[in-house]
Amino acid sequence: MAAPKFLCLPLLSLLALLVAYWFRHVEEDNLQDQLDTVLSSLLRAEQKVGLDAHRPPRIAIGFGGCLDIIVDGVALMKETTIEPSYNPVHHNFIETETQLAESFAYFFPPGAASERYVSNETLFRKLVDASKRLPEMRWALGGNAPVMANRLAAEGCDVLLGGRLSQEEASVLSDRIIVAGETVLDADIHLIMEYPTGARWGNHISRRANRYIVHSDSHNPMIDSLEDFRSQLESFKPDLLVIGGLQMMDSFPFKPGQREARLKAIQEMVLSMDQNIGCHFEMASFVEQNLMKDLLEYVIPYSDSLGMNEQELPNLLSLIKGGNITVLSDPYPRVASILDQMRELYHLLTSMELEEGQRRLTRLHVHTLAFQAMLVGKGSMWKNTMSATAKASLTANRHVCGSAHIDTRKAKLIMDDSFSISREVGSQRIPFKVNRPVSCWEEDTYEICLAPVLVCTEVFQTAGGGDNISAAGLVLQI
Ligand SMILES: *[C@@H]1O[C@H](CO)[C@@H](O)[C@H](O)[C@H]1NC(C)=O
Ligand SMILES: *[C@@H]1O[C@H](CO)[C@@H](O)[C@H](O)[C@H]1NC(C)=O
Ligand SMILES: *[C@@H]1O[C@H](CO)[C@@H](O)[C@H](O)[C@H]1NC(C)=O
Repeated sequence: MAAPKFLCLPLLSLLALLVAYWFRHVEEDNLQDQLDTVLSSLLRAEQKVGLDAHRPPRIAIGFGGCLDIIVDGVALMKETTIEPSYNPVHHNFIETETQLAESFAYFFPPGAASERYVSNETLFRKLVDASKRLPEMRWALGGNAPVMANRLAAEGCDVLLGGRLSQEEASVLSDRIIVAGETVLDADIHLIMEYPTGARWGNHISRRANRYIVHSDSHNPMIDSLEDFRSQLESFKPDLLVIGGLQMMDSFPFKPGQREARLKAIQEMVLSMDQNIGCHFEMASFVEQNLMKDLLEYVIPYSDSLGMNEQELPNLLSLIKGGNITVLSDPYPRVASILDQMRELYHLLTSMELEEGQRRLTRLHVHTLAFQAMLVGKGSMWKNTMSATAKASLTANRHVCGSAHIDTRKAKLIMDDSFSISREVGSQRIPFKVNRPVSCWEEDTYEICLAPVLVCTEVFQTAGGGDNISAAGLVLQI
């Protein structure tokens, strides 16, 4: 009599298992279908507008360049025999191994991107030598300007690049790029210490994939290609000027007045240009308050467009509001908080009285891990905002996964099913539609477009992501 029971139980649990398996399968299939729909919809939005092949856009972009050495951050620490530190400290620049460990311990657990100047040449040499002993180390052309230049050239633009590069660096530039700036023998090296989500360094665990960069530049902080670049600008006749790479001036031991003089020279260059030629400034991770203040005086008021990430946005906003630099912000910000910050920044910057030659901001592009957001003034010079947002989003995946072809099995969405357009109570919620993933709407004097990112789950590289993404976003807008 007990026999049926014996038979039944295993049978029932087998059945339960099969049903569970089937449901999970269906769920996974659904998820996969969703991702595929998002991808094809984003691709459609990207392809909606093309470049005029007969008259490719001409973009002038400065400044600087370097040779990136890309390594696993934790492996490099081990190779250099630098022990994990449990005393996280925010150092503006690095002089000793202890400071490096403390600084890495500060940024690694939250997974926040950062970049630090190493003032101790012996230490920097030691790190570079150690990196060369790591089997998985690789080289790449680095620096905001060359990376953006290559991206723009790959998209079909003709580019004038301001930077003093080594022969080695120049050899990997597209032939659509003209370099303004004399060749150098010793390229500035940037050591990119990458780490994946969940990486362990002693007892530290990183919350998200990112990188910590150290450098000991000598050419870049002086922007020593500026004069050559300026002298070629007029004959090059750009449609757009892009300025980036100025974070190389951060925490650099300048002589008194030297940095201001270089920034003033940039300001004069922009002042000498036709106001119809747009000017985009690409932000970066700045930690030196005085440098940021100089940027607010000499660069930002002369820009029509700004590009930045989720860390740089609150940083700039806080400074403009008279506060301090915020070095660490939420790496997974909600859409509503980013949009509120964008509106606030836009209102603050556009409500300032314009002095002679200054430009009114008309474009703001913020890139985060989960989504791309663009705010563009109505009736401004910037075109195709919807397609540009889609392209920026696709580029984020392509860059991080290291492949132009997007494989949705290596991607996930981390945006919710709907988002609120502001943190204010009673704000409109916009549902996320897989077949129309880019949401655009008008407010006040501007339009906002927002696109989810198909976040790459098999990270190939994160460094240079912002540059590729910002450049991709600009191409379709000029
Ligand atoms: C520079 O770095 C080296 C190697 O880590 C170290 O031995 C030296 O003490 C450092 N110098 C200073 C001034 O901190
Ligand atoms: C800003 O930073 C300065 C110097 O680091 C500090 O003295 C001041 O209290 C800070 N102010 C605020 C509002 O955090
Ligand atoms: C981003 O730029 C770098 C340097 O130019 C390049 O190696 C990389 O492939 C680019 N990513 C994409 C998605 O094009």
